[in-house]
Amino acid sequence: MNRIIPLVFLIITFAVVLLGKQRLISVSVNHEIVNVADKDDCNNLRLIQTDEDEPAEWMTEKEVWKLLRKGTKFMDITDNEDLGTVVKSKSSRQFPIKPSYQKEVSHYKEKLSTKYMKESLKNFTSFHNRYYRSAHGAASSIWLYKEIKRIADRADDYVRISVRKFKHKWVQISIIARFEGSDRNKEDQVVIIGAHQDSVNMWMPTNGRSPGADDDGSGTTTILEAFRVLVEGGFKPHLPVEFHWYSAEEAGLLGSQAIAKKYERQHKDVIAMLQNDMTGYVGNRQESFGIVTDHVDRNLTDFVKSLIDEYTDIPWANTKCGYACSDHASWRKAGYPSAFVIESKIDYNNPYIHTVKDTIDLLNFNHMLEFSKLAVGFAVELSHIDESEKI
Ligand code: BES
Ligand code: ZN
Repeated sequence: MNRIIPLVFLIITFAVVLLGKQRLISVSVNHEIVNVADKDDCNNLRLIQTDEDEPAEWMTEKEVWKLLRKGTKFMDITDNEDLGTVVKSKSSRQFPIKPSYQKEVSHYKEKLSTKYMKESLKNFTSFHNRYYRSAHGAASSIWLYKEIKRIADRADDYVRISVRKFKHKWVQISIIARFEGSDRNKEDQVVIIGAHQDSVNMWMPTNGRSPGADDDGSGTTTILEAFRVLVEGGFKPHLPVEFHWYSAEEAGLLGSQAIAKKYERQHKDVIAMLQNDMTGYVGNRQESFGIVTDHVDRNLTDFVKSLIDEYTDIPWANTKCGYACSDHASWRKAGYPSAFVIESKIDYNNPYIHTVKDTIDLLNFNHMLEFSKLAVGFAVELSHIDESEKI
């Protein structure tokens, strides 16, 4: 009898694994048990695009991981082949020549500090990894959601704000925090500030240690800090402003594509999108913003430069990042103006990303704070764009 019970248990376990073809994972988050099912089948072929003008190719997941190791940038369009096909004018929008809401911006800017950034990034990098299909990645996204919610719940009653989970086919959620605009006739217009929350160890993607402090814990905390001061300062924008924390960027921009596709289908008018991916590494170089000039909206990028000049204390330098470098590319593909800022010129970026060595001790929080200043300036200025004088 003593031997039969374990045997029966073993058989049942095998049957569940074989028949279910789904791994059920229990994750403990803040003492709550969350059950997550990893539905993705690793043997599926993926449709991968590595260049705007090249046809997409079907690849196994192992082949996709080889691209990651080689540093070949790619977009996984398997589930979003139709992104950018809803007919709309793709002509570039005009942005103001220079910023004009200095007083409002400084009200929030003076509340910025590195204290909460340090605490939150320490917690965020303590998850074994934040891989989009792992239980750790699921847990880190729930932790982040609760943190954002905790900040939003402290807002004064007159601040109209919501925090939503955006669920995907995989276990890690994306998160959208939204400030409603005061002009109720313009609810479809939106200004977006984004970062990706997932991380990857390129040598052992599914279960390797990947702190992802810089890529992109830094961008995640940069925009979290901007969000915090806006909430605490009582931000009431004229147009809606959203903060997005994307899942599965490292797998080919999966989270941002899913959200951009939804917005495109809903005919939302995305005024502008700013991506923050890697904002913390300076190394032994002079500090500057890297302003990405390829695969971005030119007019918006020019406006971002003027925001850096006005609201931050360091200069900018033009740089290029290539096709599908980060989530701004999903918004661009959907036909919306997007821009991308990074910690430095690409050649001087953190050399340890996608490895166990992408750790917090290599980051400069004052540098990250400069990006938070930009994010605050971007949110305030563009939320008034319909009232600004155009060129
Ligand atoms: N943060 C990186 C982008 C990056 C890498 C910028 C190196 C500057 C220097 C981003 O998370 C990333 O890893 N992108 C992938 C492409 C993605 C679609 C898988 C890349 O660069 O290989
Ligand atoms: Zn990355």
